[in-house]
Amino acid sequence: MNKKFFVVLEGIDGSGTSTQSELLKKYFLSEGEKAVISPEPSSGIIGNLIRQALKKRILFTENTDLFDEQMAYLFASDRHDHLYNDTDGVFKLMKDGFHVISTRYYFSSLAYNCHTPEQFDFVSKLNHKFPNPDLVIYLDLPVEISLARIQGRSLKEVYETKHKLTKVRENYQKIFSQYSDKLLILDATKSKETIHNKIREFIEKL
Ligand code: TMP
Repeated sequence: MNKKFFVVLEGIDGSGTSTQSELLKKYFLSEGEKAVISPEPSSGIIGNLIRQALKKRILFTENTDLFDEQMAYLFASDRHDHLYNDTDGVFKLMKDGFHVISTRYYFSSLAYNCHTPEQFDFVSKLNHKFPNPDLVIYLDLPVEISLARIQGRSLKEVYETKHKLTKVRENYQKIFSQYSDKLLILDATKSKETIHNKIREFIEKL
């Protein structure tokens, strides 16, 4: 493959974005290609700050709206670092011949960090300069199944509640019904092999 892909996987918690990233990376490697998984929040300094906040080890504010706004700023600056840093940024990696697979991108900010139309406009503006990926894969999962899947995890993050995930899924459905670039929507209740095969077929066509 001459072209190197920037592929993004999106979905509510428990939808299988990490599993599918691993399978996709293995597929690229099996084709003799170089591939790397580079998630958001990133492994950079702002990404780490975000992870602490998501685990409530840092508390900026108890006010939910303010918290979402602060997170939106942090995620946007982490995204800039994730894309453009000269060490292991997405574009640097692509220039070095890697396909880059990111679990989550600006779609997650629109899905997770807004409730009202005003917040949606604000987060859209914060993110409007970030380029679209070559492909975004949305793994659609009902909230009940998401909750059952994440129940066994030892550590809960702030966004892992029924109320929040219901809003997030609604937001995702709205964003992707209006998205006009390359998009693959898959049913995340299907087996991981079925989902992976669909992703592979789509990438082969690209
Ligand atoms: P993860 O579960 O994929 O590790 O992602 C961590 C959490 O970060 C997840 O609950 C979604 C949230 N998130 C946002 O709220 N906004 C964003 O822009 C991104 C990238 C993630």
